[in-house]
Amino acid sequence: MRILSRKNHDRAKQTRETEVEAAAEQATPEAAAPTATATVEPSPAPSPEPVAPTPEPAAAQPATPAAGSEVKTEPAAEPVPVEEELAQVEEEAAAEETEIRLKAADLLAPTRREFQTLPTHQSPEQPVDRAEVISFANQKGGVAKTTSTLNLAVALSELGNRVLCIDLDPQGNLTMSQGIDPDKCEKSMYDVLVNDLPISEVIAHREIDIAVASIDLAGAEIAMSTKIGRERSLENALKEIHSEYDYICIDTPPSLGLLTINALTASNKVIVPVQCEYLSMRGLVQLQGTLKMIQENLNPDVHIEGILPTMFDSRTLHAREAVSILEENFGDLVFKSRIRKAVKFAEAPVRGASVLKYDPESRAASYYRNLAKEVLSDGSS
Ligand SMILES: Nc1ncnc2c1ncn2[C@@H]1O[C@H](COP(=O)(O)OP(=O)(O)OP(=O)(O)O)[C@@H](O)[C@H]1O
Ligand SMILES: [Mg+2]
Repeated sequence: MRILSRKNHDRAKQTRETEVEAAAEQATPEAAAPTATATVEPSPAPSPEPVAPTPEPAAAQPATPAAGSEVKTEPAAEPVPVEEELAQVEEEAAAEETEIRLKAADLLAPTRREFQTLPTHQSPEQPVDRAEVISFANQKGGVAKTTSTLNLAVALSELGNRVLCIDLDPQGNLTMSQGIDPDKCEKSMYDVLVNDLPISEVIAHREIDIAVASIDLAGAEIAMSTKIGRERSLENALKEIHSEYDYICIDTPPSLGLLTINALTASNKVIVPVQCEYLSMRGLVQLQGTLKMIQENLNPDVHIEGILPTMFDSRTLHAREAVSILEENFGDLVFKSRIRKAVKFAEAPVRGASVLKYDPESRAASYYRNLAKEVLSDGSS
């Protein structure tokens, strides 16, 4: 019934990370050493003697002139055994050569070393600068998808992350929540998905960066229906800006149509807000079915990051039971954080702000700050 538990996914991720780290550890120290010898050898070879005095800054300097002068003067002036003297000179020269190598390596190192380590972490196929893309999805309406997208995004941003929100819902509620009138947007996510407009052209900079929606988006599913690769339109659009953000949070409409499919195809994580009511939970199985189809056909990496109980009212038995049912069925997949009922969540969008800005000290704000910490700790484990 479960698609991919967080634990399983994290374990797989951890193994991958360990392998990468092990490879990096092997590569870094040894990469510097072989590079040093490999790159240096050619340079002292053509001019072993003349190069010596130049790069020697301090420690080796006394050795160089001493070696140079002793060779010619001392054996002639004093009756020191020549063989011993030559052996010493050779030893000194060898030591000096080693030092020259190290010095030359040092000179080359800054660029060389970076060059060596970059491919390990930043190969073109696997850029480290890829944003985490999180979709907030549940085909049931009014379960706090939009509220969670905005407030978690702002909480992540408060913790120092670069965050972009994408409004993929024709209702434009997320856009409105940032004080932007969707009816006045000349360009919107419609143009990005249908006409391949660069997404950077529809990003507004408010409390947080937001790629805006307009009512046109309602026609996007039909307009995209004849497009080749229509499920990947958003994924392709995000390539342009992946390196500019740490997190991209996508608000989806209350349906499992092409817009939501685009969001899930472009994401690596899905957060499923669920109102703590029996009826809200029934849709989860349907959502899992859609996600499975996407994993099999479009995006094997996407997984449920967590199920988020929202509008929780601990005073009612029904809400407590609903959470118990969630935990029995989905175990670890249910976030520990609870988003409790609070009127601030309805008030904040009227001011065009997140709850974290509208009332930073409120308990409502702390619910999403806690969630942000939970999301970050899951991501790093
Ligand atoms: N924790 C909460 N306590 C009280 N009200 C809330 C809470 N979270 C959200 N709301 C309110 O519930 C309503 C629905 O929330 P929201 O718009 O975020 O849901 P949604 O899932 O995005 O809806 P839709 O499916 O229509 O897009 C809004 O009026 C919002 O202010
Ligand atoms: Mg919404």
